[in-house]
Amino acid sequence: MTELGPVAWPPEPIRTGRLVLRGSEARDRAAFIELFASPEVHTYLGGPRPREELEREMPGAPGRRPGSFVVDLGGAMIGQILLRRATEHRRPAAAGKADLGYLFLPRAWGFGYAAEACAAALEWFDGILPGEPVVLTTQTANARSLRLAAKLGFTEVERFHAWDAEQWLGLRSPATPSA
Ligand SMILES: CC(C)(COP(=O)(O)OP(=O)(O)OC[C@H]1O[C@@H](n2cnc3c(N)ncnc32)[C@H](O)[C@@H]1OP(=O)(O)O)[C@@H](O)C(=O)NCCC(=O)NCCS
Repeated sequence: MTELGPVAWPPEPIRTGRLVLRGSEARDRAAFIELFASPEVHTYLGGPRPREELEREMPGAPGRRPGSFVVDLGGAMIGQILLRRATEHRRPAAAGKADLGYLFLPRAWGFGYAAEACAAALEWFDGILPGEPVVLTTQTANARSLRLAAKLGFTEVERFHAWDAEQWLGLRSPATPSA
């Protein structure tokens, strides 16, 4: 994965009904560690990273790069959304395309926050790179993620086997300008 391309970062914070999407700050460090060390979050992502390693190696303000949004609820980070470029994706249908990823703390699951935040991030994306499709890869066993992908308008391109599991590759076609 590489960065999206020449985009101004961080953007002005994006406000939705309940959330704010913003660039990461030093105060998010503890939440990033919780996110990356959580076995529940990484059930379908190849397993968590050891907390001690994260404490040791994570920079003061992690995730400070174009396309990496902190999702903030009431002043505290509840998740991360990533829009990157799938430069070396193993499936030709996805290689080189913009790629959506999302990770939320388990206590924030089940409230529609991920859907609300991802829809706003995709709207931001449509504004800066109009007409570009977005891809998304998730394990077929990851039912929550598949439901979210469908809600966001991703449709199946193909399934494939990688990282010891069956994967789902979805595509969101660019919005067609209304007449
Ligand atoms: C994938 C993930 C982001 C989905 O989170 P989520 O909270 O289930 O997703 P949504 O924001 O779409 O919320 C949907 C749920 O909120 C409920 N909900 C409650 N209030 C709601 C509201 N006001 N609006 C919308 N939905 C609401 C929905 O009914 C739905 O519940 P259900 O799952 O019991 O049917 C989360 O499980 C996660 O972070 N997983 C670990 C990381 C991961 O696997 N990422 C995928 C690879 S990129």
